[in-house]
Amino acid sequence: MKVPRLCNLTGSTEIPPAQNLILPDFGPHGIPAARHRLLRAAWLRNSCRTGEMFTVASVERQCRFPGMTHRHDIAEIEKDRDRVCRAILEALPDWFGIPEALENYVRDVKTMAVLGCRRDGRIVGMVALHPTSEATLDMHVIGVLRPYHGQGIGRALVEAAAERARADGMSLLSVKTLGPSHPDPHYAATRAFYLSVGFLPVEEFKDLWSEENPCLLMIKPLG
Ligand SMILES: CC(C)(COP(=O)(O)OP(=O)(O)OC[C@H]1O[C@@H](n2cnc3c(N)ncnc32)[C@H](O)[C@@H]1OP(=O)(O)O)[C@@H](O)C(=O)NCCC(=O)NCCS
Repeated sequence: MKVPRLCNLTGSTEIPPAQNLILPDFGPHGIPAARHRLLRAAWLRNSCRTGEMFTVASVERQCRFPGMTHRHDIAEIEKDRDRVCRAILEALPDWFGIPEALENYVRDVKTMAVLGCRRDGRIVGMVALHPTSEATLDMHVIGVLRPYHGQGIGRALVEAAAERARADGMSLLSVKTLGPSHPDPHYAATRAFYLSVGFLPVEEFKDLWSEENPCLLMIKPLG
């Protein structure tokens, strides 16, 4: 089923008053009326608060996991950053299967700011941050445990990183990932995630990491 992206009446990026918000009609093959009302209520609640536009999929996720999209428990990890990083990256071998690279991340996060998302009494996602220029905060490594994928945690970590960068007077978030000339399907999904959360591809560097691992630099401008 093809569903339209949600939008507001004015197309404005400013937070519109509730009465100006509409949910497009999904048509006869769309969502049943009761579900439509539920989605609309969830969307209104969150859009009014944040001004953010939601896709149907992400609003539906809120209905399945009520209130989660904006209530992820994200905080800076003060202690044992290397241990947390190791636990998450080792659980993601499809992305972090090169032992030397994993050890480098574990070493690097000891000196970086690390934001973690806590759920079910443990940290299930993390992002490590370091400034690479006065204007740019780099997301050195990000990972969410697999059972928690697709629940908005990655997006919330990026938003928290963006907030932090803005608070420090920075205007860009950056990230480096495996480039599109490499056929790996897992990293294709990762690039789709980065695009979804507002990163734009800048350039693929064929020999920054190694010939076998082309590096794509992506940038997210912070409004
Ligand atoms: C990449 C990762 C951090 C994303 O975290 P997540 O919590 O699963 O992502 P979210 O649920 O917040 O998704 C945010 C958006 O990205 C999109 N997205 C997420 N995973 C996607 C996928 N596999 N394919 C296409 N789009 C995807 C979602 O559709 C969502 O968009 P929407 O809100 O408009 O619907 C997580 O999947 C992960 O840990 N991957 C393995 C490690 C990794 O790739 N690290 C980066 C190495 S450079």
